[in-house]
Amino acid sequence: MSFLELAKDRYSVRKFSDKKVEQETLDLILEAGRVAPTAHNNQSQRILVLREAEEMAKLEECSPFRFHPTLALLVCYDKNVSWKREFDNADMGEVDASIVATHMMLEGHQLGIGSTWVAHFDPKAVREHFNLPPHIVPVSILMMGYPREDAKPSRLHADRLEIEKTVFYQKIEG
Ligand SMILES: Cc1cc2nc3c(=O)[nH]c(=O)nc-3n(C[C@H](O)[C@H](O)[C@H](O)COP(=O)(O)O)c2cc1C
Repeated sequence: MSFLELAKDRYSVRKFSDKKVEQETLDLILEAGRVAPTAHNNQSQRILVLREAEEMAKLEECSPFRFHPTLALLVCYDKNVSWKREFDNADMGEVDASIVATHMMLEGHQLGIGSTWVAHFDPKAVREHFNLPPHIVPVSILMMGYPREDAKPSRLHADRLEIEKTVFYQKIEG
C-alpha cells in the first residue's frame, strides 16, 4: 500500500475485538512514535501504555467515549522539555505529541491495529487516575486494538472538504 493509500484507508475504529495486541506489534507502534519529528528535536512526548483491566476501568471514568479497547496510549508532553517559540512563547509540546500520535495511528493501521484519537476527556480525571505530575500535559488518548468484525468507518470518514477549501496559493480566503 502506498502512503496515500494507507492514509486514506485508515479510519477511526470504535469497536474492538477482545484479541490483545501482541507486545511485538505494540513495540513497532511505539517505535513509529519514537522516530517522529519534534520541535527542535526536543522529543517532549511522554506516553503511558494502558492495557491492564484496572487501568481500562480508570480510563472509562475519564471520558464519555468508552470503546472498550484492549490497549490505550495516553499521549502527553513534558512542558519542561518542549520547545517554546521565542517570539510569543508558543509551546510546541501539543504539536510534538500530535505528530507522535499520528505516526503511531498510521503504523497501527498498517499492522491491522485500529485506533481512535480521543481528545474529549477530563484532564483532571486523567491526571488523578494516572498520577501525572504537573509538568506532564495529556494531549490525546489513542484507543487501540484489533477492530471488531463489525467495525466500519463512520459517516464522517468520507466527509472531507474539497482541497480548494483548505489549500490556498495566494491568500487564505474565508
Ligand atoms: C484532535 C482529535 C480529537 C478527536 N477526539 C475524538 C473524541 O474525543 N472522540 C471520538 O470519538 N473521536 C475523536 N476524534 C476522531 C475524529 O472524530 C475523526 O478522526 C474524524 O471524525 C474523521 O473520521 P475518521 O478518523 O474515521 O477519518 C478526534 C480526532 C482528532 C484528530
